[in-house]
Amino acid sequence: MTTSIAVWLIWPLKPVISCWTINERQVDKLKQLLPGTRIIHCKSEEEFVSALKTAEISITWIFKLEYFKAAPQLKKVVTPAAGIDFFPIEIPSHIKLVNSGFHGEIMGETVAAMILSHARGIMKSYSFQGKLPWPRNELEPYMKNVRGSCITILGFGHIGQWVGRLMKPFGVRLIGVKRKPEPGPDYFDSKDKIVIVKDLNNVLPETDHLVMALPRTEETTHIIKKEQLELLPSHAAVYNVGRGNAIDEEALVEALETKVIGAAYLDVFQQEPLPADSPLHICPNCYLMPHASAIASNYLDLFIREFVLKYLNWQKQGL
Ligand SMILES: NC(=O)c1ccc[n+]([C@@H]2O[C@H](COP(=O)([O-])OP(=O)(O)OC[C@H]3O[C@@H](n4cnc5c(N)ncnc54)[C@H](OP(=O)(O)O)[C@@H]3O)[C@@H](O)[C@H]2O)c1
Repeated sequence: MTTSIAVWLIWPLKPVISCWTINERQVDKLKQLLPGTRIIHCKSEEEFVSALKTAEISITWIFKLEYFKAAPQLKKVVTPAAGIDFFPIEIPSHIKLVNSGFHGEIMGETVAAMILSHARGIMKSYSFQGKLPWPRNELEPYMKNVRGSCITILGFGHIGQWVGRLMKPFGVRLIGVKRKPEPGPDYFDSKDKIVIVKDLNNVLPETDHLVMALPRTEETTHIIKKEQLELLPSHAAVYNVGRGNAIDEEALVEALETKVIGAAYLDVFQQEPLPADSPLHICPNCYLMPHASAIASNYLDLFIREFVLKYLNWQKQGL
């Protein structure tokens, strides 16, 4: 029997991010890679709800509770989003929500760029531009080696592991922090380690770069607060690309203002868009991105690659 896949991938929020909306080339690619399936490309909510009448799989950014009534055959709701908090609805137990993990490749590059530009004083130099004519000695305290430094990655999943993979060739020491203890990935050497979250405080004093790639859950809320910031060395930088709930922003602002830590690079915030009056906008050594670390022209190409591999696996198991 032919499997029907309803594809409705139009980025639903403003501003429109075009690489998060599927194009005809990508739909054709999906059809080409899955010749035995019926791919129904939906361009509106009405088309999607109609396609759900026959679909076993839906690929979408949006799924409302009432759609389930219109979807008698549905087995899987697939989304390019990584966040388990992305669909704020309860999925019936006979249907599986399938998140994606391909973001790691893109976001690993963003975080690697942040770490390198921080350690090598690029952002600091930019902040002096137009203010000081030739700030060589002013820059000196900020110019560090990446080689030999310690990167602790809090949330060592798809994204966190890509950060480690991309940074390892720079000669860094890696500490991955997770809930479950596991052996490290193949690029780990004898100096690298995995620790569980209850040991986080023990590794903070040896951390030069603290990368956060955590989901939004009750346990991750304010996992980094005053106590943890004070355990970091004063030159350390914090990078958050997971979810904004994980850092106590008030404590972070204070830590930056009082030089308890060296810098912060933030892509995600407690409230998004970040309110115009947030002190983070004017905080010293605080560099902000508007939840953009995953934007890349090949975003949905990577999603399609991951989805097709998953689909072929499901097919072997009878979906
Ligand atoms: N900025 C953006 O544009 C963007 C884009 C994509 C995703 N994200 C965010 O990034 C998050 C991570 O994505 P991912 O694909 O890397 O997810 P993932 O593969 O599921 O990895 C999540 C990691 O977090 C760890 N973790 C979860 N709860 C924890 C806790 N309480 N304490 C310590 N570690 C904990 C998990 O540990 P275990 O392995 O031990 O369970 C796992 O290593 C997503 O959930 C999403 O919110 C942001």
